[in-house]
Amino acid sequence: MTKQSKRAVAWRPFTSNCCSVEDQTILGNFSRCRPSRSEFSKNIAPLPSFRRLSFSDLSRSSSIRINEDLALSFGPDLYDFQLSELRAITQNFSSNFLLGEGGFGTVHKGYIDDNLRPGLKAQPVAVKLLDIEGLQGHREWLAEVIFLGQLRHPHLVKLIGYCCEEEERLLVYEFMPRGSLENHLFKRISISLPWGTRVKIAIGAAKGLAFLHSAEQPVIYRDFKTSNVLLDSDFTAKLSDFGLAKMGPEGSNTHVTTRVMGTYGYAAPEYVSTGHLTTKSDVYSFGVVLLELLTGRRSMDKSRAKSEQNLVDWAKPYLRSSRRLRCIMDPRLAGQYSVKGAKEMGLLALQCISLNPKDRPKIPAVVESLESLQQYKDMAITCGQWPPSPKSSRNSNNGVFSTKSTTRGGNHRKSSPVTPIRKT
Ligand SMILES: Nc1ncnc2c1ncn2[C@@H]1O[C@H](COP(=O)(O)OP(=O)(O)OP(=O)(O)O)[C@@H](O)[C@H]1O
Ligand SMILES: [Mg+2]
Repeated sequence: MTKQSKRAVAWRPFTSNCCSVEDQTILGNFSRCRPSRSEFSKNIAPLPSFRRLSFSDLSRSSSIRINEDLALSFGPDLYDFQLSELRAITQNFSSNFLLGEGGFGTVHKGYIDDNLRPGLKAQPVAVKLLDIEGLQGHREWLAEVIFLGQLRHPHLVKLIGYCCEEEERLLVYEFMPRGSLENHLFKRISISLPWGTRVKIAIGAAKGLAFLHSAEQPVIYRDFKTSNVLLDSDFTAKLSDFGLAKMGPEGSNTHVTTRVMGTYGYAAPEYVSTGHLTTKSDVYSFGVVLLELLTGRRSMDKSRAKSEQNLVDWAKPYLRSSRRLRCIMDPRLAGQYSVKGAKEMGLLALQCISLNPKDRPKIPAVVESLESLQQYKDMAITCGQWPPSPKSSRNSNNGVFSTKSTTRGGNHRKSSPVTPIRKT
């Protein structure tokens, strides 16, 4: 297959319950992971009754067998596309239709018309073409199909179908017209996101995580970051990319132990150092994204001065008071933000990035706190709180007004995947 605009990105080895050697029956697990008692359960689409299917069956099977097994398990909920169909709807994966590229391959826009499949409505879609060089790519693809194929929620991107033909692995998602939060926050081409929209996005993303965490056996997302938060036309946030998602601990277990995977700058420190993964690891990453929304800075930015490269380390001392916080607020907001709202968001971020996971709030509490920010209508610019006084900006030693802090996009490097550490 011709792959347009290929860039060399290292593979992130995949580890999840469903990929472990114990030959788990993941679809069986999923019937247990469906939230049933929480308020989020009302959003779940009814799921088919699954034939128990083992990951190792699928990972060792031929593509024909995998297709049969997935079709049996998902029934009409997921479409099994042919490569020729996906070529046709993306003009042979033309670079004109390129939406972006991540660690796993390129993403192209495509148009499905009424005639493609009975029952499938005409719509634009995003087709992700996995760079399948080895088993890892297949495993990630499979994890995405299995997780997203079954989890349906207004704040999770919808998987429409997949394609598995010989060595090729593709995924077909609903098209998200406004792309990723990363693009809006950090690319120079986009207009700055207004404060109210930032709060709306944070609430939507938190609701997506809350849905995952509220299951009887929670799903740990493990890769929460701005590039995985996609935006609908009205800025409704939806989580994408479940390749690293993992089933949380069962029964009396407090954590699951895994190889460390994720993205530098977002991964919780205790997870990086011990491999112990809990839902609180996602809460930490969420706190980092709140900091990105407040400051307009990337979680990790090697183009900045050493002391400013790690957003958490740099921002932490400024989160406790409005006076200090205003020194690190995104200059692109130009003072058009609620001082009270920003202060509360700063304090919430501080809690989320607590070193001790027990001090981090649970994600439903985060949703509640964020929702309460919507009531604030005060604006820094109209109540004399903007710009920060030269004195406070000098004290902050943060370079808010330096050229570096106002240049975005271009020379900023993307966060790099965490190097996998094998646990012995
Ligand atoms: N469903 C979609 N609708 C619209 N655009 C999408 C969709 N899915 C992905 N994209 C675009 O494609 C880009 C690449 O997405 P992808 O998930 O492959 O990589 P990434 O999130 O940027 O990086 P990583 O590999 O670290 O997750 C996204 O940033 C987004 O702009
Ligand atoms: Mg992604």
